[in-house]
Amino acid sequence: MVQTAVYPGSFDPISLGHLDIIERASSIFDKVIVAVLINTDKKGFFPIEERIEMIQLVTSHLPNVEVRGFSGLTVNFLKEAGARVIVRGLRVVSDFDFELQMANANRAMEPQIETLMMMTSPNYSYLSSSLVRQVMHFGGNLEGFVPGPIIERLKQNYYK
Ligand code: PNS
Repeated sequence: MVQTAVYPGSFDPISLGHLDIIERASSIFDKVIVAVLINTDKKGFFPIEERIEMIQLVTSHLPNVEVRGFSGLTVNFLKEAGARVIVRGLRVVSDFDFELQMANANRAMEPQIETLMMMTSPNYSYLSSSLVRQVMHFGGNLEGFVPGPIIERLKQNYYK
């Protein structure tokens, strides 16, 4: 049986921490779907299409990784995709409360769906998409924050 995992998130934009989780998950599961939330309540900074393109750009070396947008509940997306596992990254202890709440809510709705937490590599434990956006906004150096090809893209499209 093909074991598919879904890595859901906002990815606004993808960081090196996200990529670390995607690469490690892709070495464990047959297939990994990176699911980018299309949130109608919270617009976010980068358009969904661009977030998806950026993830595709930096995961092109991983043949078992697919990137898709989704709206609604993550568990419904998993059911439609025929997946049973949600992968999420834990950076620091303060992430745990939110992740536990989400995992329990998802389990209450769909008991057969498991959430697997992967510890983010310590090198990236300080990273977040909002930090990336802040550094970008003030024209700071994004090395160590986002993958190289993304830096180039952000410089071309967003740096003044
Ligand atoms: O990258 P983020 O913003 O931490 O990701 C959060 C995400 C997208 C995983 C979460 O908000 C989510 O799953 N949203 C879809 C709605 C849903 O299923 N909520 C959780 C159970 S109520």
